[in-house]
Amino acid sequence: MKVTVCRKEHFNAAHRLFNSEWSDEKNSEVFGKCNLPNYHGHNYDLIVKVSGEVDPKTGYVIDTKILKQIIREKIIKKFDHQNLNLDVGEFGTLNPTAENIAIITWQILRKSISSALDLKVILFETERNFVEYSGE
Ligand code: NI
Repeated sequence: MKVTVCRKEHFNAAHRLFNSEWSDEKNSEVFGKCNLPNYHGHNYDLIVKVSGEVDPKTGYVIDTKILKQIIREKIIKKFDHQNLNLDVGEFGTLNPTAENIAIITWQILRKSISSALDLKVILFETERNFVEYSGE
């Protein structure tokens, strides 16, 4: 019997989307407002889902206190109130799209969560736009 434990967290961050191999015109055409040169912010919502068997000793799949600590320590501290392009090493050359933020988040969290548990991240960039990544 597998159960999924979900934790929702939030961070604010700035970014700019661009491809250095393209002209300004092409960047603007592809990325629109997200290409504006002086950066802009998003209020990101992050949902982390951890699935696995319930431990008969605790009744938990994962202790939510521990899950919360891991997400805050590894992700929120790293991303919150940062400029993703300039302040977060992973996005030095990687475009900080919602897709890539979700992948980096998953890769970081995967190291801190037991390999016996499945991990999925859902990242909302706006209320209506969100992405999911589960390591495939
Ligand atoms: Ni944007």
